[in-house]
Amino acid sequence: MTLSPVPRLAVIVVAAGSGTRLKGGAPKAFVGIDDRSILHHALRGVVAATTAQVVVVVPSGYEGEALTDARDAAGDRADLLTVVVGGATRQESVAAGLGALWADVDTVLVHDAARALTPAAVFDRVIAAVDAGAAAVIPVLPVVDTIKRVDADGRVVGPVDRSELAAAQTPQGFRRSVLEAALASVDTDYTDDAAAVAAAGHDVATVEGDAVAFKITTGPDLDRARALLATGSSASVVRPPVHDAPRVGIGTDVHGFGGEGTLWLAGLEWPGEEALSGHSDGDAVAHAIVDALLAAAGLGDIGTHFGTDRPEFAGAHAEAFLAHTVGLLSAAGWRIGNVSVQVQANRPRFAARRLEAERALSAALGGAPVSVSATTTDGLGFTGRTEGVAAFATALVLPA
Ligand code: CTP
Ligand code: MG
Repeated sequence: MTLSPVPRLAVIVVAAGSGTRLKGGAPKAFVGIDDRSILHHALRGVVAATTAQVVVVVPSGYEGEALTDARDAAGDRADLLTVVVGGATRQESVAAGLGALWADVDTVLVHDAARALTPAAVFDRVIAAVDAGAAAVIPVLPVVDTIKRVDADGRVVGPVDRSELAAAQTPQGFRRSVLEAALASVDTDYTDDAAAVAAAGHDVATVEGDAVAFKITTGPDLDRARALLATGSSASVVRPPVHDAPRVGIGTDVHGFGGEGTLWLAGLEWPGEEALSGHSDGDAVAHAIVDALLAAAGLGDIGTHFGTDRPEFAGAHAEAFLAHTVGLLSAAGWRIGNVSVQVQANRPRFAARRLEAERALSAALGGAPVSVSATTTDGLGFTGRTEGVAAFATALVLPA
């Protein structure tokens, strides 16, 4: 075996968490996405993106399994791997990883194994920023949802200006000396390394993250990772899959009247109209569109991605659902051709606001054309008795 030259870059892959929210029957990193574990996919991504010492931090008792998995993922770069046992918190696990760094390493990336599908381009951007002189750099995504401050009783206390917010991802990159000194000096437990480095007084730079670098935290996240891998070859770990033909999908939804507050339907608020009930705002039009888009892209359905275990979508309006769906499609290599949706309802009367609804829905879908039509059912059925609203959508998606 030829030995790789000693690298000056190291990637600490933290995989020592228990995965209490995923409930996958094993520590999270050892749960399968397809026939490979989360850890295997994460390490394949690291090895494809970098030439680095790779320190894998795992729960006690999993060192052997991790080494086998890691050697398989690293291929002819297996001599650059080190496996160590982590601690009770993520920060302790990072510290354990730091303890295993080779002497020549001067730049350290810390990466969550749970961000198993992170594209190589994110690694490239982080490494470039550290090389350009940043002491600390993190990949971030803009926050697209409207954010509220909520008190312990679940009441909205006030809005938060989302233009100031960003969602932090990994890999987070550091000059080794900066990260070591920061972790040695902090006495608080931070959920990421950049927070510890910022607390130690350093500027933290940002680069663009990627929707595909999402963290597998809950069951629906795992489904999303499975869907992403299933729609393409293993190359989808690095780039979204390439499709060669359009696809269509259908979605329907029904909500009954009897919700709280005012009616929200087709992305519009309808003052004076009875609200629909549901986990979110009951916007059957938006939900039918989401189902049609997900079906067209082969990404499951609304329950896969917005189930009741996603509390951030409770009470959310069409804009949040549709924007998140656009992100899912784009991560899977699709863009939206057009959407057509028909509402069956006695109330509200759509005629006067049809164009407004089309514009609101289209804006939430990044500008894709949306047609809205509405009909009554001649007094027949539940919509005819004004008990609720039904919506039927079709969507066309195109290769991105
Ligand atoms: N992690 C770690 N050591 C810990 C806790 C977390 O190495 N003591 C790692 C996880 O393995 C994961 C990353 O930090 O790759 C992000 O943590 P999180 O997503 O919270 O994973 P878990 O802690 O495993 O999940 P949960 O919080 O649901 O139990
Ligand atoms: Mg955790």
